[in-house]
Amino acid sequence: MSGKTDYSVVNTDLLIIGAGGAGLRAAIESAEAGIKTTIVSKSLLGKAHTVMAEGGMAAAIGNVDSQDNWKVHFTDTYDEGVKLSNWKTVEIFAKEAPERVLELERYGAMFDRTPDGKINQRAFGAHSYRRLAHVGDKTGLEMIRTLQDKVIHTDAKVMDEFVITKILVNNGRISGAFGFSIREGKFYVFRSKAVIIASGGVGRLFKVTSNSWESTGDGLAMAFRAGASLMDMEMVQFHPTGMVWPPSVRGILVTEGVRGEGGILLNNKGERFMLKYSPVKKELDARDVVARSNYKEIVEGRGTEHGGVYLDISHKGAKFILEKLPSMYMQYKEFAGIDITKEKMEVAPTTHYHMGGIRVNPETTMTNVEGLFAAGEAACGLHGANRLGGNSLSDLLVFGRRAGKFAAEYSKQNSVEPIDDKEIEDEISRVMGFLNKKNPENPYPIINELRESMSKRVGIIRNGKDLQDELGTIRDLKEKAKAVGVTGGLRFNPGLMACLELQNMLSNAELLVTGANERKESRGAHTRSDFPETKDEWKKNIVFTSSGDTFEMTFSPSEEPPEGMIVNIQKAR
Ligand code: FUM
Repeated sequence: MSGKTDYSVVNTDLLIIGAGGAGLRAAIESAEAGIKTTIVSKSLLGKAHTVMAEGGMAAAIGNVDSQDNWKVHFTDTYDEGVKLSNWKTVEIFAKEAPERVLELERYGAMFDRTPDGKINQRAFGAHSYRRLAHVGDKTGLEMIRTLQDKVIHTDAKVMDEFVITKILVNNGRISGAFGFSIREGKFYVFRSKAVIIASGGVGRLFKVTSNSWESTGDGLAMAFRAGASLMDMEMVQFHPTGMVWPPSVRGILVTEGVRGEGGILLNNKGERFMLKYSPVKKELDARDVVARSNYKEIVEGRGTEHGGVYLDISHKGAKFILEKLPSMYMQYKEFAGIDITKEKMEVAPTTHYHMGGIRVNPETTMTNVEGLFAAGEAACGLHGANRLGGNSLSDLLVFGRRAGKFAAEYSKQNSVEPIDDKEIEDEISRVMGFLNKKNPENPYPIINELRESMSKRVGIIRNGKDLQDELGTIRDLKEKAKAVGVTGGLRFNPGLMACLELQNMLSNAELLVTGANERKESRGAHTRSDFPETKDEWKKNIVFTSSGDTFEMTFSPSEEPPEGMIVNIQKAR
């Protein structure tokens, strides 16, 4: 304990915030490099959005389609990002993904097999070849299980149920982070040479989402306040298939693996409508295309009773379905009373992934703040305007490892920066301020209003009026949020978490909607009904930098890859 203020100090070389796939993979790398590594997570270890990438991890291993190679994977990924991805990031990713998947297998992941015993690979939307290494429909879960098992056998220290509220910076360099233990109800200062943010995306900004309660974008907002730039904030992926009914399960993911294994989409007339929207790729077109098609069928009155479309795989038979998609079978049976071996599922688009995030160096994953790194969904640069399904899990492995490696190197070369006591006192006052307010505003109705209006106005199809109205709403909510407060203490206090998260959500929402309003075109997942064209002049990333109480928005032209890197693919399907 420090004498002056009531907090404990943890001295570490590297602090990793977030224990999903990227955070865990980073921890393995740095711990194995002999770096004192601490990993903190807001929920219990193992509870991460990583598990919601169910259908597989994309890597050009070529076990099923031997023509596949890293250049084709590069081309598919870069094409899908509609020229907003950083091509160097994509190159590193496509080249390194196969080795990372094989390494995960060596760590103990139990992949599904081909008849000759190799890792099996399935088809997924807009991948030219069958490329997704998978474990039934539980691939993300198996990844977390494997990495978690590996991490707890290293010297890395795991501190779960732990909230970080501030990244500490001194003289433009990382000095650590501040937060509290939910379990102990106690403040902590982490003195650290380097910090990796691997805390995932912003899915909970939306009412209908596959993301669970953790995904409030805390890492993005904290990095931003610490001086890191955020980029492509407007780029949000709507997965075509989330559950629809009953209301309590709305948004829960229905894996693309269902379509990868032969599932078809139907409207209320029994028409296989993807034949009309995408005659060649059909259900396995890119996520934005399929999500928009589902949406169109629904809003034009050809949807189901509960506002979805039908997804049917029953023609494959019970044996096949139970073997390939056991979780989907259980999910529909238990949550909706539907037997998917005999009946159709009702599905509709759900907010799933944020392509935007913290701007990082493609090789090292370091941000513009020295010693601050980011990886996984929190980072930005790989996916551009749209992400291919299955690319997120391999992203976590490739860039989680790189973040761990380069943050470890950085902490070997640098000494720990001093911590400013006043900064800690101020942060303690800020957090305690939520617990000591007279007649506080309740944070929950504000969160609900934000999520409701974001889903309504900043969804699959956007327009200038809605976006401007949403900016007005966000600014009103920001004013209201100044007065939020709750009773109780630090220990197991969801109300306090809501107060803290609300500040982060509003900061992220404002940038996201500002970016969406600014981008006067349609590109990838960002569709504007008032600007339907993709425009060359918009081949640039929108970058936000914090500036006192406000922000600066700049534009960074997106560089195209050198000649010869994009291959002309004879599509395999
Ligand atoms: O549909 C899915 O299984 C999701 C995969 C992903 O987002 O990568």
